[in-house]
Amino acid sequence: MRLVLVSENPHKARELAAALPGWEVEPWTGPPLPPETGATFRENARGKAAFGRAHGPPGAWVAGEDSGLEVTGLGGRPGIFSARYAGEHATDDANTAKLLEELDGLEPWSREARYVCALVAFSPRGEELAVEGTLEGTITEERRGSAGFGYDPVFVPDGETRTVAELGDAWKAAWSHRARAARALAGALGERTPTV
Ligand code: IMP
Repeated sequence: MRLVLVSENPHKARELAAALPGWEVEPWTGPPLPPETGATFRENARGKAAFGRAHGPPGAWVAGEDSGLEVTGLGGRPGIFSARYAGEHATDDANTAKLLEELDGLEPWSREARYVCALVAFSPRGEELAVEGTLEGTITEERRGSAGFGYDPVFVPDGETRTVAELGDAWKAAWSHRARAARALAGALGERTPTV
């Protein structure tokens, strides 16, 4: 089955495809996406999915994704603003630098964090599915590794000693917040497939 991921981030389509074997996951090739206006990951994901439904290819599933990093010592920031934490169109490097700066000197517990991924999908008939995946971890004091994107060089998942950027793509395909959300979506899709 075909599923179009309504996202301008090519990393996400690749990661979702790796986590959804058996699906033809296609990147978004439609018009530019409007700005995010939701107050939650799920609202933003739904907004992208709805845009995909209106402007994407007919006959395919469309999915909107929104994800980010919540840090305990920052009261859950950057949250839905993760991509533009250091300003509109900020680079991953600038966002990570700001994060490390803000956490500098704070108590160790402040560095507890979680990645969150919300996925909302519409079937060709308009049936809506919404799922979420999370990955708990800790923010390091220095960057390590080169795989992945975003905050991966400073995020160590619980139970690991290496950052996500050191653990690599295969690890992410199996265990990331996006992989967990994708599995939940695959489960939900599987349950509904016969009726579509
Ligand atoms: P979005 O494109 O509005 O969903 O923003 C997602 C932002 O959250 C990215 O730009 C990253 O800063 C962060 N993020 C989401 N998922 C990941 C991940 O898997 N690794 C690292 N950073 C992530």
